[in-house]
Order: sequence, then structure tokens, then C-alpha cells
Amino acid sequence: MTQPRRILITSALPYINGVKHLGNLAGSMLPADVYARVMRLKGHEVTYICATDEHGTPAELAAQAAGMSVQAYCDEQYDIQRAAGEGFRLSYDWFGRTSRPANHKLTQHFAQALEKAGLIKAQTSKQVYAVDDGRFLPDRYVEGTCPHCGFEKARGDQCDNCGTLLDPVDLINPYSAVSGSRNIEVRDTEHLYLQQTGMQDTIRAWVNEKGKAWPSLAVSIANKWLDEGLIARSITRDLSWGVKVTSADGSPRPGYENKVFYVWFDAPIGYISATQEWAEATGNDWEKLWKRDKGADQTEYVQFMGKDNVAFHTVSFPVTLLGSAEPWKTVDKLKAFNWVTWYGGKFSTSNKRGVFMDQALGLLPADYWRWYLIANAPEGSDAAFTWEGFQSAVNSDLANVLGNFVNRITKYCASKFDGKVPETGEPGEAEAWMANELAVRLKALDEHYEAMEFRKAAAETRAIWAAGNEYLTKAEPWVKYKSDVNGAAVGVRAGINLAAIFAIIAQPIIPDAAAKVLDALGIPAGNRRWPAWDDTALLDAIPRGAPITPPDVLFQKIEDTQVAEWTERFGGGQG
Ligand code: 2FM
Ligand code: ZN
Repeated sequence: MTQPRRILITSALPYINGVKHLGNLAGSMLPADVYARVMRLKGHEVTYICATDEHGTPAELAAQAAGMSVQAYCDEQYDIQRAAGEGFRLSYDWFGRTSRPANHKLTQHFAQALEKAGLIKAQTSKQVYAVDDGRFLPDRYVEGTCPHCGFEKARGDQCDNCGTLLDPVDLINPYSAVSGSRNIEVRDTEHLYLQQTGMQDTIRAWVNEKGKAWPSLAVSIANKWLDEGLIARSITRDLSWGVKVTSADGSPRPGYENKVFYVWFDAPIGYISATQEWAEATGNDWEKLWKRDKGADQTEYVQFMGKDNVAFHTVSFPVTLLGSAEPWKTVDKLKAFNWVTWYGGKFSTSNKRGVFMDQALGLLPADYWRWYLIANAPEGSDAAFTWEGFQSAVNSDLANVLGNFVNRITKYCASKFDGKVPETGEPGEAEAWMANELAVRLKALDEHYEAMEFRKAAAETRAIWAAGNEYLTKAEPWVKYKSDVNGAAVGVRAGINLAAIFAIIAQPIIPDAAAKVLDALGIPAGNRRWPAWDDTALLDAIPRGAPITPPDVLFQKIEDTQVAEWTERFGGGQG
């Protein structure tokens, strides 16, 4: 094996405002989990961190809609999101919360460091004020028509339709998202502004260097922002829920008693504070992951996110990290995703469009969804979720190609070879063909994962399973058995070894089914590592004579009646 690498992985922190839909899952947490699993199986030192993003208007508005205090709402939703993550087998090393003290402290620390570096200044600016509500309306508290695309329900911070980041005062025909009131004025209020202008050249140079390892989608979004010219952005808001604005001595900053830091200022800092929490809880060292003077230069930092988050990760957060003049680690590889679409539109948490993580688990086990979402990852372009596509991926790839292979070979081994890996017979042409298939395809699979090409990795995984079925057609142990038991024994031995390899490479995407197969084949935990593609003994790796048992049915096929029922229930097909 090559030298173990130290890899830090983060997936965009999901907003606390309700359980996430399958589009959120497919565009950050799930691929990050698959990547983390592959890298762990390859023997690397992986730390996968995520957390709930609990501040800002999304949290306040959702709590208000639920009739709860923001704290109680966040506590409840955190438990729900954590359980959904566990249900989907997301293998976080830590799932933290941005509302925890570590994040408050670190956010205040960054603000102090940036102010010291001359990059934070107080400025008076015009903000949207709702006279009837008696308050300023930051970000999502105000809605109106997008000045860029004309979408009528654009939120104050970003247009959901065209993705443009907005300032609430830019909205045409604004109204309060709290009361619906159109009695809106623009008033002066003081806020802290991050002087991004002064960081333009630093960020440009950083993107030029680091962007070499990013997909073009990420580089082009970063360059679009840089080409437009970085401007000072306000990093505080007129809200009560969030990280308090402090002075250098930690006391409340005069004039900011009713203001907090902007959610997009403290959320990415949550990657670091959640790592600190993990270290504290587990006795690990967080600095070797985040401090360049403490070993983080030897850490590979990989971020996963949807395309709407790219600007924050390639420009704003780097401004915070590099502008602090402290030796913080910045992202090395960045994987950005397009959208999973839901019958001609977008999945939407606020409009409850699509299938949500908890609902999905109520229908079928996590593996089924994981396979479909990774095999159809929205990488090159948006990817449509359809019930028929889901049914076909499960029935064809999982049940027919993988499930049947494992079922056929293990049952045959149990009935004709006493449930033991056959010991006799010499490999021939069919085995040579299969060994070559493995050598070529496992190498390709490895390359796809290294390149974070998840669709290709799933397609290659399937192709390897399919090659196994082709091998059995060539080797025909059931035909040979009648006249040449040793010939049949070779085929069954190779087949059982293939079932193990197929499950080993399936672990990152369908961990539960893979574990079921590996348990049935008696493969010890220490032998479930990623296979070396140039290993010539792959078809004869399990000790001859070792006992195996056929696993229970691995995958239930999805019936047409189920598709019809779910289409009806979730509104798929109605646009
Ligand atoms: O878009 C979102 O869901 C944000 N909550 C992502 C935050 S990522 C990070 F920076 F915290
Ligand atoms: Zn728009």
C-alpha cells in the first residue's frame, strides 16, 4: 500500500430548519460519506466532520412557524437530523452544532483577528425595516422580486431561482416574511463589514493555486466573483439568535447588544469548532488538521457541497481564514454538485417538495437510496429523481446483478460443496479472463474514487459485478459438476471469492448489504480492506475449506404497485 494519508473531510453543514431532502443528501453528505469510507478502507487516516448550521434567519423563521423557542426548536431538530444521518449510515466522526460554545468562541476570535488585521470596520448602511413588525428584516425575513431574473419569491439573501446572492434592499416590491406586511422602509443601521476588497489579490492568487485541484464548476464560480470584484460585506445582523458580537475583552460590543454575527460568517467556522469538539470528546488532536504550523500542511482537506455554496467556500470563508493572518488550513480539494431535480422543479425544504430523509427510510433501507443517489449523482449537470429510475436501479443493479450473483454462488456452494470453499481444481481460461477484468476494472474504480467521480465509480462497481455474472456463464460450474467436479470446484471457489470482492468494493455505497455478504462469507473485519488491483491472488484469497453460509435475500425488488403508490403519495409526476 502507498503511504497512509491524513484526510480531513467536511460536507456542507445542513441548515437546522427541518430534516433534509434527498437532494441535500445527494449533493454533499452522501458523497462525502462514500469518499470517507473509501479512504478509510484504503488505510488512510480520515476525519469526517459535519454539524447542523443553526443560526440565522432559516432557524428563527422555522422555529417561529413551529411555535417554539429557537433553542428548543434547534435541540429537537438536531436530534432528528442526527437520527436521519445515522439511519442513512453517514459515518461522521463528529456531527456537531454551530450553536455550541466552541463555535461562538472561535467566531468571536476570528472577528477579533480580522479587526486587528484591519479587515473589519463598522459602517452605517441602509437596511430594510418593517414598520408594522417594528424590526429590521435581515436576509430571509424579507422576500420580494429578484432584480436579476424577476422571480417573485426571492429571499433577501439569495434568489432560489437564479442563485444570485442578494442584499435585501435590492429586492423589488419587498414584503416581510414574518407578517407579509408591505409597509417597508429603508433605515440606517450600523454593522460590521468584512473588507473583502483588501483581500482580492490574495484570494485570486489562492484560487489560481488551489483551484488546480478543483472541478471547473468551482473554479468558474470563484472567478466570476473575483472578476466582479470583491466588495465589503456586512457580517452582522439585527437578530437575537446567534453568536454575540464582542469587544476584544469578551464583553458585549457597545451598540451591538441586539445584533449577532451573520450565519454565513459563523457557519464555516463550524467546520473547525466541530473538529475541536470531536478532539475534546475523543482525545484527538484538532490542530494537525487545521493549523498549518501544527502539521496541517500534511493534511489533505476535502470539502463537499452543492453549487450554491461554492462562492462562500472559495471566497468568503478563505477571506476569513487568510485574512486572520493566522496559519489556518484552507481547502485542497473541493467537490461541488448540481441539483437533484424533482419532476421538473427543485426539491425544496420550505415548500416540502420531494422525498425527505426520514420518509425515505420509512419506505426502504438506506442502501437502496444510497445506491440510486450515487449512481445518479448530479455531477456534470442536474440529475432528475424519478420513481421509475429508482425502481430500475434497485431492481436491475442491486437485485439482478449483485443479489443474484451472491445468491446463486453461495447456494450452489452450500448444496454441492458442503458450504465450504472448494479446495480442488486448477484455474483455466475463464479464471484468467476474470482476473484480467478485475485488474483493469479495479484500477479504473480506484481512479474514479481518487478523482471523486461518483457516477463513474458506481458504474464501474456495477460493471465489476456484471463481469462476475459473465464469468459464471463462461465457467459453468453447474454444467461441469456432472462430469468434472474439480473443474466445477474452481468455478465455485472463484465465485465465492468474487462475491467477497464485490461486497468489499460495495461497502462505501451500500454498507449494510455489503456487511451482510461479508458476514455470511466469514470474512474477518481486518480482511475487508480495499483490494489492490494488481493482486493476482484475488480469486483464491479466502482460505480453501473455509465455511460459508448463503445470506438472506439481499434486496427486495420494487414492484410497480409500490411505484404507483409512492408517486401518488409524494406527488411525483405532477410537476
Ligand atoms: O446551504 C446550506 O445548507 C448551508 N447551511 C451550508 C453551510 S456550509 C458551511 F459553511 F457551514
Ligand atoms: Zn433571480
